Amino acid sequence: MSGIVGYLGTKDAVSVLFEGLKTLEYHGYDSVGVAFLNDAALRVYKKADKIAVLEDELNSIEYHSQIGIGHIRLATHGSPVDVNAHPHSDCTGKFAVVHNGIIENSHELRSQLERKGHHFVSDTDSEVLAHLVEDAYEGDLLAALRKALEPVRGSYALVLISEYQPDCLVAARKNNPIIVGLGEGEYFLASDLPALLPFTRDVYFIDEGEFVEITPNNVQVIDSDGNPVAKEVFHVDWDVSVAERGGYPHFMLKEIHEQPQILRNTLGSRIKPSGDDIILNDIKLTPDEIRSFSKIVITACGTSYHAGLVGKHLLEKWARIPVEVELASEFRYRDPLLDPSTLVIVISQSGETSDTLAALKEAREKGCRILAITNVVDSTITRESDEVIYTWAGQEISIASTKAYTAQLLVMYLLALLFAKERGTMTQDEIAVITSALQQVPGWIEEILEQEESLREIAGHYHNCNDFFYLGRGLDYAVAMEGALKLKETSYVHAEAYAAGELKHGPLALITEGVPVVALATQEDLLEKLVSNVRGVKTRGGAVVGVSLGQSDLVDETCDHVFRLPKAPSFVGPLLSVVALQLFAYYMSCARGCDVDMPRNLTKSVTVE
Ligand code: AGP
Repeated sequence: MSGIVGYLGTKDAVSVLFEGLKTLEYHGYDSVGVAFLNDAALRVYKKADKIAVLEDELNSIEYHSQIGIGHIRLATHGSPVDVNAHPHSDCTGKFAVVHNGIIENSHELRSQLERKGHHFVSDTDSEVLAHLVEDAYEGDLLAALRKALEPVRGSYALVLISEYQPDCLVAARKNNPIIVGLGEGEYFLASDLPALLPFTRDVYFIDEGEFVEITPNNVQVIDSDGNPVAKEVFHVDWDVSVAERGGYPHFMLKEIHEQPQILRNTLGSRIKPSGDDIILNDIKLTPDEIRSFSKIVITACGTSYHAGLVGKHLLEKWARIPVEVELASEFRYRDPLLDPSTLVIVISQSGETSDTLAALKEAREKGCRILAITNVVDSTITRESDEVIYTWAGQEISIASTKAYTAQLLVMYLLALLFAKERGTMTQDEIAVITSALQQVPGWIEEILEQEESLREIAGHYHNCNDFFYLGRGLDYAVAMEGALKLKETSYVHAEAYAAGELKHGPLALITEGVPVVALATQEDLLEKLVSNVRGVKTRGGAVVGVSLGQSDLVDETCDHVFRLPKAPSFVGPLLSVVALQLFAYYMSCARGCDVDMPRNLTKSVTVE
């Protein structure tokens, strides 16, 4: 997530803006910008560089201002270059806006505006907001913003400033936070609490659909219908480190809780409103090229490799194309059998993992088309690939990957549906059934998050155990691999994922009194087989935690503890069950007193072999 600040008061606005932006640097960013009114003239300075570099640049010029907006951007749409940095202006340069979020219908809005004569300078989605306000402005900035946002689909936290009303800031929020800071004769706006704490601890939290108008000595909040909203002052007593985690005790828990919003962002602009078609503007693969591939190889490491295992199931089942999933550290030395009719998909949250990069180069040397799925714009892997799909999960700070994994999964679902459509292996009605379920996933995850206390209790029951088995069949086996890794890397507990059907071929010898087993039971067609394996564990004294989709008598009758996911179709099982496993690992780690966000021996991006 990028960072927003705004200021109106008696201090030097630019200094306040930079001080606020510096507190948000931990989000990660690749460009910075400020806009302020200097003698009522709107001035905008921005750079694809660090805050300190832009600050130095401004120290060398004359200006005086007491109102301004600022932004640090982690690129999603559009590379990190100066022109794509925020603030964005309109054609006249009389308006400037900073924006967090994703404008889902930015292509359509931009075309409409260009037909009306507007000219754009960036390739971001956010710039359309400045031109929409320019189009709507009739003397009232707040009214113009409300009108400008009517056709906008997507998510935003935004702050707008204009030369026409040099003592006014307006802001709006939809699915992205914006907070008002209340000072003595001065007001602040920010996307995140840490940016306000150097100046004030009294704030208004702005709610969904609300607008804010700040003028000297007054803050007005209205709802989406234009009715005034009375806000209560909230006094913040968190310290900065807690504020950086949004009030959560660890980044891992914060990032687990961000997943509904991340998936809404990822889904929103990539499923046609009709629901029967997928829009992946990110890639240039033509339908003929998609039909021409004879097989797909997915190569990655760790959690990203586990996302590839789910991708294999989906691509083979829906698009009927053979898929191999390879550990990059093995693939790179195996002289693999590849040819130009193979599509190689490399998955990497960081885009910098050395094994995955080496596997990519191996595939390139054999003439394969390379498609990268990554979370970091302009990372090395993106520069070495022919096609890139971004996961838009925002910076993932905790070493244990959570939100990036579910965003990777979602991209795999969308890619499998796109391939199924172009290869004619699914009808539009069949695709619509799946996209309809996918659009409910964020809400289902919110329901899981509401039950996290029961996962904390289950973790409390097993936190002294040092060996776990994770069992599953089909898609559940792929997720069991990820669940076991989460537990290993955050709790230092030995955990092994096994295909449930394999247990009797050896590992069952390890099941004795009290050995804990997590059994994923979301695949309806394999449920009876899975439960039969669970009975085999119970017979030998094992303790079983079942994870089911809704209520299942079979699972209830055989497991010692059961975590019920919302009743959803089996094919979205991975997107839901993994959240329960993330929370279980998190609470096991807390119960065992581990360093949740920075586990021993591990690093966020393994850039060495
Ligand atoms: C996941 O929780 C781990 N941090 C690790 O397995 C990670 O997924 C792996 O190192 C791959 O990283 P990448 O996705 O950035 O390539």
